[in-house]
Amino acid sequence: MTITADIAQKYRQHIMPTYAYSGLVLTRGKGARVWDADGKVYLDFQTGIAVVGLGHCHPEVTRAVQEQAARLVHVSNLHYNENQALLAEKLAGLFSGGKCFFCNSGAEANEAMIKLARLRGQGQGRFEIISLTQSFHGRTLAALAATGQTKYQTGFEPMPEGFRHATFNDLESVRAAVTDKTSAILVEAVQGEGGVVPGQQDFLRGLRALCDERDLLLLCDEVQCGMGRTGRWFGFEHADIRPDAFSLAKALGNGYPIGAVVAGPRAADVFQPGKHASTFGGSPLACAAALAVLRVIEAEGLVARAAEIGARFQERLRSMVGRYEHVREVRGLGLMVGLVLDQPARPLTDRLAEMGLLAIPTAESVIRFLPPLTVKDGELDEALDIIEDAVAEHHGAPREEATP
Ligand SMILES: Cc1ncc(COP(=O)(O)O)c(C=O)c1O
Repeated sequence: MTITADIAQKYRQHIMPTYAYSGLVLTRGKGARVWDADGKVYLDFQTGIAVVGLGHCHPEVTRAVQEQAARLVHVSNLHYNENQALLAEKLAGLFSGGKCFFCNSGAEANEAMIKLARLRGQGQGRFEIISLTQSFHGRTLAALAATGQTKYQTGFEPMPEGFRHATFNDLESVRAAVTDKTSAILVEAVQGEGGVVPGQQDFLRGLRALCDERDLLLLCDEVQCGMGRTGRWFGFEHADIRPDAFSLAKALGNGYPIGAVVAGPRAADVFQPGKHASTFGGSPLACAAALAVLRVIEAEGLVARAAEIGARFQERLRSMVGRYEHVREVRGLGLMVGLVLDQPARPLTDRLAEMGLLAIPTAESVIRFLPPLTVKDGELDEALDIIEDAVAEHHGAPREEATP
């Protein structure tokens, strides 16, 4: 039995089948590349679904984790720990002030924001959260209730009450959903799982104005689009707005699990002792990883680089629209990019993997590319050549060649 077959067998026997597995066993990673158990190498434009933003095993993060693991891994939040203070100071600085709450995942960070909004609205009977169609906020029950895609909710009904959905990029629909029970609006500046759909600037600004007008909290889910990926530190910056709070996870620890809520003045002091907690949240080790991530992003100028190479990546992908049948559109910001087809994306992502490039099929017909922010120019070109070859093979030769 091969290693891959052996591991697949163990999965079938002992792992709950919550995922549609690719069949690959990944054993090693360095920068933009990962290796499978047979030694085959791939360009990784999945980055663990927007987690490994600095590439695999970035030496600075590895060193920070190793050193911290030898010093102090965990203390309870009954005590201060220096790394948590430093990380909060750093994140608040990126947001021009504010306070943080640390946890372990995106869903948990969103749960914290939902609880915070309920607590703030409690005195006035305001508990409803308005979220948007095609959004994704995580798999815990409240985050799932906020998620605007029924396919994730089916089978888990009844959903917790207090969630209403309005149409993404349609301000009037959000306005119509506001009631005297509304406490907050929750939005992704760029929807990831929904198919890489950027929020229009007017829409996001309109949400900010609506929240100001009705004294609601504007909550941004930056779990996927945050940490520099879109070419700004946070996705909401593209619309020049400031939410009352936002959630982070995924790329914050470059693979070491950590989630965070960063809150501005209207939300920073809502939680008081006993109202919310997380055993592992903000441990010295998790915060050491995140501090290293922030240092590297700043030292290597990766936010600007994501904007610059993202534009180049998108431009060449865009040149395929219209030239190949079935390639309809390129969407995204920076290095959060979707190639929209008019047919299921999975066969093409499977072929890309065979050809050595990992990408993610999303929202049925979108191929989502999430390269590391550290991807080299040559690696980007290599990926683009693979994509063009795979698209040509799947969708016929380029139009100008096909029609003499
Ligand atoms: C926008 C967004 N929010 C929340 C989550 C959930 O994060 P986690 O899987 O860390 O709970 C995800 C995961 O894909 C996400 O993309």
